[in-house]
Amino acid sequence: MPKVAVIGAGQVGSTAAMRLAESGIAEIALIDVKGDLARAKALDISQALPLTSSPCKVTGGSDYELAGESEVVVITAGMARQPGMSRHDLLRSNAKIVRDVVTSIKDATPDCAIIMVTNPLDEMSYLAWRLTGWKRHRIMGMAGLLDSCRFASFIADKLEIPPDQVDAIVLGSHGDTMLPLPRLSTVSGTPVTDRLSPEILRELEERTRNAGAEIVSLLQTGSAYYAPSACIARMAQAIMGDEELQVPASVLLDGEYGMRDVFLGVPVTLARGGWKIVVELPLLADEQEGLETCANLIRKRLVELDEWLEGAR
Ligand code: APR
Repeated sequence: MPKVAVIGAGQVGSTAAMRLAESGIAEIALIDVKGDLARAKALDISQALPLTSSPCKVTGGSDYELAGESEVVVITAGMARQPGMSRHDLLRSNAKIVRDVVTSIKDATPDCAIIMVTNPLDEMSYLAWRLTGWKRHRIMGMAGLLDSCRFASFIADKLEIPPDQVDAIVLGSHGDTMLPLPRLSTVSGTPVTDRLSPEILRELEERTRNAGAEIVSLLQTGSAYYAPSACIARMAQAIMGDEELQVPASVLLDGEYGMRDVFLGVPVTLARGGWKIVVELPLLADEQEGLETCANLIRKRLVELDEWLEGAR
């Protein structure tokens, strides 16, 4: 059975571990700097498995040896947002944590693919790529699928239809400049632009941009984890199953969409070892411009991160 290591046994990590374990597709190693927390969560998750008919083994602790021979490593270690914070506010504190985690993973399971979840997402994905020096196909950030699910859920709600009839797409950054694409989003195959007015779509796009913050403000402590963990589990499953599933994810561009040297949310196919190809959608001029605006903003933050890395050496 393949193994997935989940680093960070907080809300997102433990829920992702639970979803993967209950689906019966992978052995799970749950690792946290608080070893007892990871141990406790692993025990709790394991004790549900007789009921869910899952053959998976779940272990927990602080030792990266547990992650040995993982096919996929999911990184959720780090601080979550509190009300009033932007994802970017987490940059410095989470960069230190991600640096420690990636250094340990590199030794413990050198052949894995990494799904980054820690925010700010695009920046942390870049950091993992820089610190590993691995091929770009092995590292991706989970955000586009989550933002697309959020957009789809708001569309379904507005049309009063089941959510699984909507196929929505959001590209760009996992932040305020994310780019929902209603023109390429569909309801049972029909463009959503045929079903909803431009005004309503704009309102839903704005709600999608703020969907994470809406939950943070309602929760008052911590950020979303049910939808993020569902997206993590689906992506890990697609990689291990060599499915070539197409999802938006944050990956390093090398000429695709006319851009390079930046992690950006674009559609990719997921297959064994990581992502396989970037799917280049035919974008209109304003959509391409929106994507470039996201990329320029992220690039500035990558420079900030490079400076921090140089200073930290
Ligand atoms: N190594 C391993 N685990 C760590 C480390 C480290 N160096 N530093 C912190 N952690 C662990 C914490 O002990 C905690 O259990 O990361 C976990 C984070 O869990 P939560 O605080 O519950 O945060 P969560 O809601 O899971 O979000 C984690 O995912 O969606 C993003 O923005 C979110 O960056 C945040 C991350």
